[in-house]
Formats: sequence, C-alpha cells, structure tokens
Amino acid sequence: MILDGKAVSAALKAEIAQKVKTLPQTYGRVPHLVVILVGEDPASQVYVRNKSLAVEAVGFRSTTLVLPADTAEETLLGRIRELNADDSVDGILVQLPLPSQIDEAKVIRSIAVEKDVDGFHPLNVAALFQKMPCIVPCTPKGIMKLLASAGIDPKGKRAVVIGRSNIVGLPVAKLLLDANATVSICHSRTANLAEETRRADILVAAVGRPKMITGDMVSEGVVVIDVGVNRDKEGKLCGDVDFDSVAPKASFITPVPGGVGPMTIACLMENTLECFLKRRSG
Ligand code: GUN
Repeated sequence: MILDGKAVSAALKAEIAQKVKTLPQTYGRVPHLVVILVGEDPASQVYVRNKSLAVEAVGFRSTTLVLPADTAEETLLGRIRELNADDSVDGILVQLPLPSQIDEAKVIRSIAVEKDVDGFHPLNVAALFQKMPCIVPCTPKGIMKLLASAGIDPKGKRAVVIGRSNIVGLPVAKLLLDANATVSICHSRTANLAEETRRADILVAAVGRPKMITGDMVSEGVVVIDVGVNRDKEGKLCGDVDFDSVAPKASFITPVPGGVGPMTIACLMENTLECFLKRRSG
C-alpha cells in the first residue's frame, strides 16, 4: 500500500485554506510567511519555489528573499532582525543548508522564536523534548500525520530511524517515542545496519543516500517512510529506499516524490497559521 503524501497533504491544505478565509474578518489580514534563500543551490531553489506556491495556494501572503551566495553572515542576521521587528511578518524560514561562511546555528538562534515556523530554534527544540507546547519541525510532523492517515499506531512497535539530524532524525525519533514506539536511532557509525533495520516495524530513512535501503534489509510487513530526496545514476529523483526491492515486502511505503515532501510543505502551512494565531492571542 502506498502512503499517498500528495493526497493527504492536499486535504490538509484545503482545510487550512478554509480557515484562512475567515481570518481577515477577525484579524484584518492573512498570515505572512517570509522565506529566505541564500545562494543558488538547485535543490533549495525547487524547495523554496514549492513552499511559496503552497503559501499562495492556501491564501497566505508570501515573500521570498533571495540573497547572493557570498552574502556576509552579518547581512543575513541584519535582514532577520528587520523581519523579527516587522509586525506584518508572522513566519520566517531560512532555507538550509547555508553557504559555508555563514554559521547556521547562529542564524537559527537569531530568528524570533514566535516566528520560527521550522521549529529549529533551541527554545522550540527544548520545548519539544520536554513535551511542552511548541512548533514541531515540518518533516517529522508530516511523517506522524501520514502514519495516522493510514491508521498506523506506533504504540508498542519497533521504530528504527536512520539519520540523526536536527531537522528530521532526532525530532521524528522523539515524536515516535511520544507515540509509545520503541525507538532506535541508527547512523553512519552503526555497526550492523541491516541487523537493526530488519527488526523494524516502522522504518524511517533520512540519510540522503540514493537507494541505500534494499529489500534484504527489511522484514515482511514493514512500514517504510522514505525522507530521502536524491538523484540516482540516471539523474532521476529517488529516495533513500530502493523502492523496487523494498515495496513488495512492505505493508505501507511512501513514494519519492509524492510521499513525505508534500507533507512537509502542508505542515509548514499549518505551522505558519499556528504562529500567526499565537502571536495574536498572546
Ligand atoms: N532544508 C531541508 N529541509 C529543510 C526544512 O525543513 N527547513 C529548512 N529551513 N531548510 C531545510
């Protein structure tokens, strides 16, 4: 069974678009998201474009700032300071990765926590890990919604997460743990990866290596969530999972594209709306 992220995200976006229609009446305007792209990384350009298209489709206001690849750290921090102080801005997203002259952690820390739609600010991360109300990072949130949409309850299941990034691996492991799964986190130094992945009832692959999870590495009935967005040897878009050999053994699997990606974007819309409403209700 295919976990259709495109369909689930379309439903979520439609729901948000309905809510947006009522906002001008109550608040005088719609939510406003500013996306900042530094440099010309082709993958980042595609992501940023998809984000701004979704923002407009749900009826928010969208601004995209494109800065040159050689932008100084202080210039970027200055722009963020302006946006933090601008009351007409509800959400600020700085597309990652950033060019090497810019300290990513410093940039993330500089975003006002109440406008941190990515949920990457240390205060949001701390809140997530203490089960306090917070903005949950978009990709992990989207993964949990996709599981729920198919009636998959992680409770009591063995979940194996491959990858330990701040963006996906760590937060999705925490969300699965909160949903009462027994969670393992694997990474590049894991001694016997296939041994770990074969134990998984739910497998989340977030490593960024084309087709590295093959059919022999999974057990019959596994639920597979593929976060990877890579190019194969022919230049075709592919995930971290070798779909052709894994899908026949899986009970559920996400395609690439059309699985996790659209869910991330729909959750970004939800997070932007959350930031807007929270700033207004105090
Ligand atoms: N780069 C890859 N994924 C993400 C994301 O979710 N947010 C941002 N800002 N950059 C990313």
